[in-house]
Amino acid sequence: MKPLNIGMIGYGFMGRTHSNGYRQANRFFDLEYQPVLKAVCARNEEKAKAFADQQGYESIETDWRKLIARDDIDAIDVCTPNNLHKEISIAAAEAGKMVLCEKPLAMNVAEGEEMCEAVEKAGVANMVWYNYRRVPAVSLAKQLIDEGRLGQVFHYRANFLQDWTINADVPQGGAATWRLDAEAAGSGVTGDLLAHCIDTALWLNGGIKDVSAMTETFVKERVHAETGEKQPVTIDDACMFHCHFDNGSLGLFESTRYARGHKALYTLEVNGEKASLRWDLHDLHRLEYFDHADDSIVRGWRSVHVTDGDQPYMGNWWVPGLQIGYEHTFIHQVADFLRSLETGEPAHPNFRDALETQKVCDAVLASAKERSWKDI
Ligand SMILES: NC(=O)c1ccc[n+]([C@@H]2O[C@H](COP(=O)([O-])OP(=O)(O)OC[C@H]3O[C@@H](n4cnc5c(N)ncnc54)[C@H](O)[C@@H]3O)[C@@H](O)[C@H]2O)c1
Repeated sequence: MKPLNIGMIGYGFMGRTHSNGYRQANRFFDLEYQPVLKAVCARNEEKAKAFADQQGYESIETDWRKLIARDDIDAIDVCTPNNLHKEISIAAAEAGKMVLCEKPLAMNVAEGEEMCEAVEKAGVANMVWYNYRRVPAVSLAKQLIDEGRLGQVFHYRANFLQDWTINADVPQGGAATWRLDAEAAGSGVTGDLLAHCIDTALWLNGGIKDVSAMTETFVKERVHAETGEKQPVTIDDACMFHCHFDNGSLGLFESTRYARGHKALYTLEVNGEKASLRWDLHDLHRLEYFDHADDSIVRGWRSVHVTDGDQPYMGNWWVPGLQIGYEHTFIHQVADFLRSLETGEPAHPNFRDALETQKVCDAVLASAKERSWKDI
């Protein structure tokens, strides 16, 4: 097996999911390359050491530039808040490292374009962690659509609903709540949650032509965790947009962190001429499917338990009927990335694909601000 030495920057939520992905991929997929957890980088030495010991990294760095400069690192994994994606990814590409970057690709399209140019100029493998493509039920949805089973698509609908920022005492900024600080996150729910919905939509239903959006910031001021000062909140707490897809279908998207009772309710539904499908992250191993060609007396929505060996990725797991979960999406993404190194076929979504999502996000925010339709 060929080793692929990983240098990970950031050791939070995504640091953990990716580390697990690197450890597990070769145990379930037959691959030529094997990730080696070479080093993790974080600013706090003690915490970095504790993370390295728990997850199995061989070494630590406290300055990401030093990590990138190391000769024993093949691939840099960017698991930091969004405002660092560009600088780290470009530096990594310039040093000839492969780059695996968390989503959203960048703070805005201009940054994303620079990042695409850097990885393409360096000719390094690159990928963005839009992991929901690798939920087997979502991959199955892609297969059914590509097989033409839905016929002409009329509607694409997606929501991503949470409720964790309703309390006005939640601060903005700092290590735990950087997502509420536009300086670190770029935007609110648009870049954080809708970006996932948009990536999946572009993958399942093709390009988006134009958008019309509205956003709201319900809590106008929050204490900044770093300064202790009350400051205006400049992220979008909620965002809704509708759009035209290139294939003529209509899209409707909503995301909020103010939907009391919902924790991570990512749902999508596609309505076609011949069939419809829908999926729900809270029940991620099921794909609901309605086929109008069914005999009318038994026609209805069926709930497909996506656990069979002939369904996407499931042949590599347990036996039919036994499901897998959230963490497996990252294992699948690692496996697909490693396979891409074997075959020379780029893994998707790469930086260029993720730039398309970034373009939609920027257009959504501009549309809401200017209260007008925006072409992509
Ligand atoms: N694919 C997904 O489903 C998904 C889910 C959550 C987050 N994300 C994305 O992953 C990225 C990280 O999010 P998270 O939830 O893991 O955040 P987190 O706050 O849990 O972790 C961020 C990490 O970055 C580190 N960091 C910050 N500045 C640094 C610096 N200068 N040098 C080194 N390390 C630094 C922090 O110490 C922390 O370990 C974000 O871009 C986010 O949008 C993606």
